[in-house]
Amino acid sequence: MSQDHPQARESTPGQAGEGPLVARVDLSQLIANMHCLQGAAPGLGMLAVVKADAYGHGAIPVARALVAAGAEGLCVATLVEALELRQHGLLAPILVFGDRRPESVPIAAAQRIDLAVVSADHLRDLLPLVAQHPVGLHLKLDTGMGNTGFQVAELGATMGDLQALRPHLRGVMSHFSDAEAPDGKSAALQRQTFQAGLARLREAGLAPPMVHHANSAGCLRGFTQGDTHVRCGIGLYGLLDIPAAAPAGLRPILELSAEVTRAVRVPAGTAVGYGSTWVAPHPVTLATLACGYADGFPRALSNRAWAGFPGGPYPLVGTVSMDVVVAVLPEDSPIRAGDRMTLLSRHLEDPHSVQQTARRLGTIGYEVTCALHRRVTRQYL
Ligand SMILES: Cc1ncc(COP(=O)(O)O)c(C=O)c1O
Repeated sequence: MSQDHPQARESTPGQAGEGPLVARVDLSQLIANMHCLQGAAPGLGMLAVVKADAYGHGAIPVARALVAAGAEGLCVATLVEALELRQHGLLAPILVFGDRRPESVPIAAAQRIDLAVVSADHLRDLLPLVAQHPVGLHLKLDTGMGNTGFQVAELGATMGDLQALRPHLRGVMSHFSDAEAPDGKSAALQRQTFQAGLARLREAGLAPPMVHHANSAGCLRGFTQGDTHVRCGIGLYGLLDIPAAAPAGLRPILELSAEVTRAVRVPAGTAVGYGSTWVAPHPVTLATLACGYADGFPRALSNRAWAGFPGGPYPLVGTVSMDVVVAVLPEDSPIRAGDRMTLLSRHLEDPHSVQQTARRLGTIGYEVTCALHRRVTRQYL
């Protein structure tokens, strides 16, 4: 048995060691998506969000491609994710959104990794550390997300501590809770609060060089006036679910396909999978696919998902197992073991696109791709 080493996940087409379940990631479309987002925010720097293994697309190859194509920096949620980027030779500026542990400060400072300052307590914890461990800091304002950052009203009371950190303050940031909403009201309110916070800081002589608020939706919809940078994630991966996304040129970059491990003609009455939740109503061909919930293909998709193959897409039937799912095709289908079927398509209109799959699950595309397990082979085109 070979060990599932993280680096073993990267492969090029046709390379030995490729698994039966493959997520193909189109890096040239990734770059095209970045250019679309940059086009919506001319002159602003791109901080590419590659947390959660680049939303399941593979942080290292994705980050390398984005930095080579002009991303000014990378954003992740944890210090562990940031260190993984450094260990793989990524030298670009990195911002960690969510690590408030004092013991992270010396490591972040030594690795030139910036930290978001997320609360007054966090700020106080940083004070005794930064002189010895000069770390870059981005002050996060809570303008409506309600889960992290400083309330603008809190700034006055913490101004003394903020002044003490002034040499280390590289940026002021916030995050939109609903930049996707068609009426744009919540985003406009958040922008007002952000501007009020910036004004409060400037009155006190604090004007860090970087100002960034917009995620992909905020960037594409132009909620960026006066900012220096945008922080985009989902738009890079082509899965931003707002009407403006496709006309702007954003396209999905990931396709998941699985090898058929058995194709067999069966008579009416044949039951499929745990609990026999599907029974063939007439003679059919069953194609068993090497993909299951352990790969990140949710069991909640049992009897309500599709797989692409010429002439299809065809329904997946029966309960999704840990490693196996079954597609049903016409009895005379030419499908053979060794053929491949697509389980997540790059075409929005397909019933097995990431977006349509997410909608059926009552979730968002982010969750579908983030769920893809490390044992899924990633191929980069
Ligand atoms: C703080 C922060 N900024 C930016 C982003 C990127 O958002 P999106 O993927 O919607 O572009 C995220 C993602 O969750 C985030 O947490």
